[in-house]
Amino acid sequence: MKVVAFNGSARKKGNTEALIRRVFEEFEKEGIETELVQLSGKTLRGCIACMKCFEDKDRRCAINDDDMNFCIGKMHEADGIILGSPTYFADVSAEMKALIDRAGMVAIANDYMFKRKPGAAVVAVRRAGSIHAFDTMNHFFTIGQMIIPGSSYWNMGFGLEKEEVKSDKEGMETMRHLGENMAWLMKKIIE
Ligand SMILES: Cc1cc2nc3c(=O)[nH]c(=O)nc-3n(C[C@H](O)[C@H](O)[C@H](O)COP(=O)(O)O)c2cc1C
Repeated sequence: MKVVAFNGSARKKGNTEALIRRVFEEFEKEGIETELVQLSGKTLRGCIACMKCFEDKDRRCAINDDDMNFCIGKMHEADGIILGSPTYFADVSAEMKALIDRAGMVAIANDYMFKRKPGAAVVAVRRAGSIHAFDTMNHFFTIGQMIIPGSSYWNMGFGLEKEEVKSDKEGMETMRHLGENMAWLMKKIIE
């Protein structure tokens, strides 16, 4: 069993990554494999609305000269998906939005290729806008017929400087509960 997480932050080893790694700890306790994909440094353009994915139905985006098909392949391989983003102007990062739009459309075009996979969003925030970013990522799961586990709060952690989020006790507890619940769910529904 494997979970792949995407860190949409422009910086590696920052708050979004710290939140994802806290969720990962719970998967690892349950013997669930984890992989972190950094969107930072990758080329991920926006959707061009060509709708070729509905003609090709090959589980790929028709734009072939950037890193999107690598990311879609990772999602396809995994049993569970985590989307992590910092809050940028009260929403997700541009790379995360490109991933949502293009992987989301390819999934729908291919008979909902992530259907019934568990998926969860986590958000790093300095002060405000995190609930909006959280909702944006949850739209990917809900339109894709995926299953979202809950936690003890909405999945966010507060911090500005790198790793500051680790001192947000409630935020880190929320990640622990999320990891526990997602691992529990995966073990129930995946044989
Ligand atoms: C372009 C940009 C926009 C941001 N917009 C917001 C915002 O709207 N609200 C907020 O609370 N923090 C905002 N921040 C702060 C980050 O969300 C915050 O520092 C977060 O912890 C960064 O996560 P990271 O360490 O994973 O990069 C912004 C930061 C950047 C670089």
